[in-house]
Amino acid sequence: MAAATLLHSVMASGADLDSALTQNEAYDRLEGADRGLARAIASNALRALGRIDGGLAQLIDRPLDQVEAPVLAVLRAGVAQIWMQQTAPYAAVSATVEAARRWRPASRGGKLVNAVLRRASERPEVFTDLDPTTIWPDWLANRYRAALGPDGATALAEVQLREPPVDLTLKPRINAEDFAAEIEGEVLANGSVRLKAGRLLSDLPGYAAGDWWVQDAGATQAARVLGEISGKRVLDLCAAPGGKAMQLAAAGAQVTALDISRQRLDVLRANVERTGLRMEITEGDARTWRPDQKVDAVLLDAPCSAMGVLRRHPEAAWRRDPASLSKYPRTQRALLDAAGEMLQPGGTLIYCVCTPFSGEGRDVVEGALNSGPWKRSPIRPDEVPGFVNALTPEGDLLTAPVARDSIASAPTQNAADAIDSDVFFVSRLEYAPI
Ligand SMILES: C[S@@+](CC[C@H](N)C(=O)[O-])C[C@H]1O[C@@H](n2cnc3c(N)ncnc32)[C@H](O)[C@@H]1O
Repeated sequence: MAAATLLHSVMASGADLDSALTQNEAYDRLEGADRGLARAIASNALRALGRIDGGLAQLIDRPLDQVEAPVLAVLRAGVAQIWMQQTAPYAAVSATVEAARRWRPASRGGKLVNAVLRRASERPEVFTDLDPTTIWPDWLANRYRAALGPDGATALAEVQLREPPVDLTLKPRINAEDFAAEIEGEVLANGSVRLKAGRLLSDLPGYAAGDWWVQDAGATQAARVLGEISGKRVLDLCAAPGGKAMQLAAAGAQVTALDISRQRLDVLRANVERTGLRMEITEGDARTWRPDQKVDAVLLDAPCSAMGVLRRHPEAAWRRDPASLSKYPRTQRALLDAAGEMLQPGGTLIYCVCTPFSGEGRDVVEGALNSGPWKRSPIRPDEVPGFVNALTPEGDLLTAPVARDSIASAPTQNAADAIDSDVFFVSRLEYAPI
């Protein structure tokens, strides 16, 4: 019941799962492993939502939008157990029917849930045979196909069904091999350390000392391709919550971290305090704010649709529509132009977004190259260990999740050069006014 009410509030109120977890009475009453189970059921249902609904539509004799929303939430929670978690069908069916009866005693939901989940356990192929990209709304699946090709979109969908990895970025003075051995983690080719599932972050060594912070391996590349920046003046224009700014400061740069959001800057401040790194922190709108002095480098991690990190927030797929995405390119271009006014001639701009859609990535960069004082400074393979396969012909980087099994079945692909990560587009430009 906790899982179903979580799902219901995420879908009905537009809350994300993390905030729904803090406000759910049924979930609150649970302890230990039960809490983990309720969360896993809700999270799995959200990961596969469109595909679960596609299967349910074949098992119910009326359109899904005519099923009461709470009953639909219970059904989705039931299917997540039967199909995705391989819970014994009798256990999943009886517990889920019980939840429907208790939650909505007056409705006939219990009967429907019982009948449909029995069918679901007898006919798992209604879910397994569906195209993996049906997990998303159709328009979004089409956009992924356009951006990544049909195989890339399918791989992205398959990876979204699994819990994403958790990676740590270590301060440069920490020895990655020793640290990884201590926590039984894995050192990735880019230097990040990947945790084993289920480790509690605050229990790891070095947490209080601020020796590391959580950051997806792909997210580290934007700051990395700035190269040697010790002593240089670097502006991070969209800095909160601070993963990339902390990398820059840890590499010895004189960092100014700017962000428009006071709330997000509070999180950045807490992160910076824990890690003991030094930087100047400023609230402002990068389109109009200007530094006292022009700087050597700017990192612009622009606001974007974030459609490359859906495996961490799958519910976001159902909050967006094409119109809500159309506003980004104009803001991104305005921020990129503003960055030019802050750089010294010959200075470097890193432009980065966490989406695979070229309208927010490559096209914004090409637009600036065609009409502004910029030169592309292609990223070289030797600069991006672990992400060589993610380099585009133009010398930009487009990282993406990689299914481990796909590496094993493609012997030409070097596993060390294909780190499984979130989607990041990174381009490096030189400011070259005439
Ligand atoms: C992708 S997030 C940045 C993540 C951050 N770089 C990191 O690595 O942790 C984008 C940020 O841009 C900020 N932002 C959006 N519009 C802005 C603007 N006009 N000026 C400055 N910051 C802005 C948002 O508040 C948000 O924190």
